Amino acid sequence: MAQKIRLMIPGPTPVPPAVTAAMAQPLIGHRTQEFAALHARLEKKLQQVFGTEHEVYILTSSGTGGMEAAVANTINPGDRVLALVTGKFGERFAELAQVYGAEVEALEFGWGNPVDPGVVEDRLKRGPYKAVLATHNETSTTVANDIRAIGELTRRYEVLLLVDAVSSLGGMEIQADAWGVDVLVTASQKALMVPPGLAMISVSPRAWEAAKDARAPRYYFSLPAAKKSLAKYNTPYTPAVSLFAGLDVALEMILSEGLEKVYRRHRTYSRAVREALKALGLKLLAPETCASPVVTGAWAPEGLDADDLRRRILREYGVLLAGGQAQLKGRIFRIAHMGYVDAVDVLGAIAALEMGLYQTGFPVTFGAGVAAAQAVLAGGNADV
Ligand SMILES: Cc1ncc(COP(=O)(O)O)c(C=O)c1O
Repeated sequence: MAQKIRLMIPGPTPVPPAVTAAMAQPLIGHRTQEFAALHARLEKKLQQVFGTEHEVYILTSSGTGGMEAAVANTINPGDRVLALVTGKFGERFAELAQVYGAEVEALEFGWGNPVDPGVVEDRLKRGPYKAVLATHNETSTTVANDIRAIGELTRRYEVLLLVDAVSSLGGMEIQADAWGVDVLVTASQKALMVPPGLAMISVSPRAWEAAKDARAPRYYFSLPAAKKSLAKYNTPYTPAVSLFAGLDVALEMILSEGLEKVYRRHRTYSRAVREALKALGLKLLAPETCASPVVTGAWAPEGLDADDLRRRILREYGVLLAGGQAQLKGRIFRIAHMGYVDAVDVLGAIAALEMGLYQTGFPVTFGAGVAAAQAVLAGGNADV
């Protein structure tokens, strides 16, 4: 039998059958009324999930393309930029701005720690900065950052706030307008439950002001070009039509469940996984106070290579867990619980982990992790 694979990684995530079915429909032309109607529907739905009244542009690219568009359209060579770094993706945002010629000051909080708004404020006092770059959910360290608190500061100090919400949007609350996010970027393949290939980006009036003076060379990632096309619910270049159709269904699923319920469900899974890992005697990567609702990481037991453990769990049980990146490689594993993942997927991943640990010689009381997760999951979606 072909092995059944369960994706418990932070993207790509499992795609619901209804989304797959929508993507399998005969293609439509992208310069048609039918496509414009689809695009208009997507726009309305995306605005609700982004928490914005402003336009959201859908780019045919991965999330990094969206981050590049954010930087290329608002930051000029020589601009002073404060990059808040809590892991690999914070580093990527900083690197991108550097490539575009910004004078980037990377404010490092250490891998596993969240952004400390007090430290950010101290830096902003020594401004002026053109922009602050922040990561909502730092996937590499399983740490969630407080974008609302950062947004209060950037508004007060009149600095643009560019946020990478690639792994959070659709699974964690974000309010672009109310929290003062000027440019918000996400991608299709994580909590939004669609295959990779779309980036989505919202732009505030303040960011459009900055965009007027943007001098960085850009063509495919020109947001003014995207804006001009969106006026007719079009795109400047050929879009990934099938992914648009899939996104329409995925967003419908999210909105009909209700955003609050979706966010609560993700928090519940996070709690269940954390309790399970603790019950197994494993050390969690992120502290409780900043634990990501969509992905949970733990240190491998002493003497055990986390990647060997992951390989075994995939080979024997078909559960794909994520590894560590950069300095965390081989030392940690991550269990994603974002998007189209349910309670039984979570329990299955924990059960597979228990068996994998046992087979690699780690002492395990079978069912200890599963029972701890069940206690959370069966308790209803009790909030945290
Ligand atoms: C927080 C975060 N930012 C950016 C990215 C990059 O997105 P992509 O791989 O779609 O370019 C990822 C992908 O894992 C991510 O988790």
